[in-house]
Amino acid sequence: MRIVIAKDYEDLSRKAAHVIAGQLIMRPDTVLGLATGATPLRCYELLTHMAEEKLVSFRQCKIFNLDEYYSLSPENPQSYGYFMKQHLFSRVDILPENTFIPNGLAENIAQECQAYEDLIRRAGGIDLQLLGIGRNGHIGFNEPDVSFEAFTHLVALDQDTIQANSKFFNTREEVPKTAISMGIKTIMQARGILLLASGAEKAETVYQMVYGKISPDVPASVLQIHPNATVLVDEAAGQRLQEMQNKVL
Ligand code: F6R
Repeated sequence: MRIVIAKDYEDLSRKAAHVIAGQLIMRPDTVLGLATGATPLRCYELLTHMAEEKLVSFRQCKIFNLDEYYSLSPENPQSYGYFMKQHLFSRVDILPENTFIPNGLAENIAQECQAYEDLIRRAGGIDLQLLGIGRNGHIGFNEPDVSFEAFTHLVALDQDTIQANSKFFNTREEVPKTAISMGIKTIMQARGILLLASGAEKAETVYQMVYGKISPDVPASVLQIHPNATVLVDEAAGQRLQEMQNKVL
């Protein structure tokens, strides 16, 4: 696990955008896995600027998103499909047929999950997976106690996640209670992982992910055994890591 501590959210976003841009430049037909949420927003904005300036192109790449709320259609402004269109897909030159996100309206959920895995496999697997982290240590919507063996599946959201994500809804009651998410196994099979965390409220969780026991209690801790994972945090989210490094020194 590589740890990079950026100065602040802007610096973190710039570094993350550069990693993704570098991947697209080295391998234009790359397969990216992307996340939603507040953390990658500025990174996506910077990527749209780079695309406008023709520094980078999404024309040949494929993008698979981590998750989608169950029961929301992509036209619903609260859905992750809508989020991705609004913040990235409509603003860069990616082909719509090369963007993938679980279908939140699927009637046969097991079939939808299997089909999503098949699509990832047929695309050749994910080259670079971008992740955020929940305060409870979730990655994707793999909440504490998830099986490390799970592929894409239906998940029940934790109360903590519902509370955290209510910032995107008018009321807490509107937040869907379930979602379809790539599983830990899907994420671990990505060839490279870049996890972003910003802000002091993530500091303890980041510390547990990096130095804690590898356990489904903190799902992100599994990344300790990924052969090519980078954890990119700002100083606020990394404050406990720095304390630890000071101790070691
Ligand atoms: C989003 C996702 C989640 C978020 C996490 C952090 O697709 O899968 O794991 O990355 O909840 O969210 P923010 O960035 O809003 O703190």
